[in-house]
Amino acid sequence: MRFGSRQVITAAVTIMLATALEMGQRALAARGESPAAFDGRCIPGGCVAPPSNTPGILGRRALPAGRLARLGATPDFHRGLLAQRGQAAAPTKPMMVEDVFKNVQALKGIGVDDFLLTMGIMSAAVGSDCVGCHPSAGTDHVDWALDTPRKRTARRMVQMVTAINRDTFSGRQVVTCWTCHRGRDRPVTTMTLDVVYGPPTDESDDVLTQAQGVPSVDQVLNKYLQAIGGAQNVARVTSFVATGKSVGYRGFGGGGVVDVSAQAPDKRATHISFPEYADRGVSVRTYDGRTGWIATPLAVVPKYELAGSERDGARLDAMLSFPTQIKQALTNLRVGPPSTIGDKDVTVLQGNGPNGTLATLYFDDASGLLARMVRHGRSPIGRVPTQVDYSDYRDVGGIKFPFRWTFAWLDGRDNFEFSDVKLNVPIDAAKFGEPNVAVAAPK
Ligand code: HEC
Ligand code: HEC
Repeated sequence: MRFGSRQVITAAVTIMLATALEMGQRALAARGESPAAFDGRCIPGGCVAPPSNTPGILGRRALPAGRLARLGATPDFHRGLLAQRGQAAAPTKPMMVEDVFKNVQALKGIGVDDFLLTMGIMSAAVGSDCVGCHPSAGTDHVDWALDTPRKRTARRMVQMVTAINRDTFSGRQVVTCWTCHRGRDRPVTTMTLDVVYGPPTDESDDVLTQAQGVPSVDQVLNKYLQAIGGAQNVARVTSFVATGKSVGYRGFGGGGVVDVSAQAPDKRATHISFPEYADRGVSVRTYDGRTGWIATPLAVVPKYELAGSERDGARLDAMLSFPTQIKQALTNLRVGPPSTIGDKDVTVLQGNGPNGTLATLYFDDASGLLARMVRHGRSPIGRVPTQVDYSDYRDVGGIKFPFRWTFAWLDGRDNFEFSDVKLNVPIDAAKFGEPNVAVAAPK
């Protein structure tokens, strides 16, 4: 259930963020390609331009193929959103919902980045896609601002959730859309006896408390630092540039070339380009120690400065690029109960980031290496998960570096397979700043 629902969101948000540049569309059409040929291009720290709508993504709670086709098969997708947005493509300050959208009543005062994630959470929660509440999403005559009965219900639900948390849980955000809906339109009201007597669910809590009888935080961190080459060696790494290829979910729309550059203590940039398809442009995600940017030629908003939770997430990603900084990046570190990832036993370390963000690190008990990082951003209606799995650790200049990253977010899932990693190379500061890429103005 959990899996299927996540895959639905994947598709939904993917679709949401997807929009096609006029030029790109024509070039694509000329080659007889549909946007499905694009993969979701997620990068560590966020998905950037995931116009993928690959049928495989839909999983168990799959939408009817017709609906999928309606959403994804048209390159005109989201032209409507661009048109209604009527907004310059490259703003110079964080974009808030009020600057961009016309009929936002319940989710005011947040950045565009967090708003779009909120739409992703809603879609995930009710196992729907944008069309579920926004008729004609996926066509060029979608009117996102239009209130439909279902959209009104969803808005009422936002208010209900806020009220429940305020009145019953002292304002703690413990009841979310997912609490009741779990990927269904209408929540289940009564248990079935098959479930009562069936296998237990394996979903773990987001927020962990210190467990008993587990290694201490220092033991876990020391084992990790030892495993990747010893604290002293690791501390000598103050920058890296990793280059390789980016492959989308299930291999769709490959051909991406990725480079991740990081500079201690807190700068990081990811560039993904498609040398064979110049019209797909370059997707960039940066954090310069103060602020972050996302530029995605094919996305709803082609370039914007991060305003909310995604900025905190980008900072965490940048800091956690350097393993000796875990204690600077996260506070209140604790070790949770033992867990597993697949057939691996793992030790789970969790800490708090700024503004209510959380990061959870999973260390392989056998090797001591970091196998997974999950960070949770916040939104007005619940936490937003982002997950990176690391594997294929290889030796680079005396330390072990993961050559394979699998990145999963509400927007999609991608694999980075690095072929070259250089440590302690000078990196031009401009690389971490506002992306200097051409973005087409919306039509
Ligand atoms: C379960 C219903 C639901 C789903 C599914 C949903 N939305 Fe929404 N959407 C809403 C509600 C409710 C609002 C108004 C929010 C408010 O008033 O604060 C809204 C508002 C919007 C707006 C602002 C329009 C404007 O100008 O006021 C955009 C854009 C939008 N949604 C995009 C999307 C996208 C893209 C998706 C697919 C990922 C999506 N939504 C999925 C319920 C939904
Ligand atoms: C406390 C449980 C609960 C929570 C939390 C909750 N819902 Fe609901 N929701 C319901 C129930 C129950 C129904 C069905 C009501 C009915 O059948 O009349 C429903 C119905 C809906 C529907 C209409 C479905 C349809 O097609 O009839 C939408 C859309 C919806 N919820 C969205 C949301 C969103 C978005 C959130 C989070 C902001 C949310 N809900 C949070 C219990 C909840």
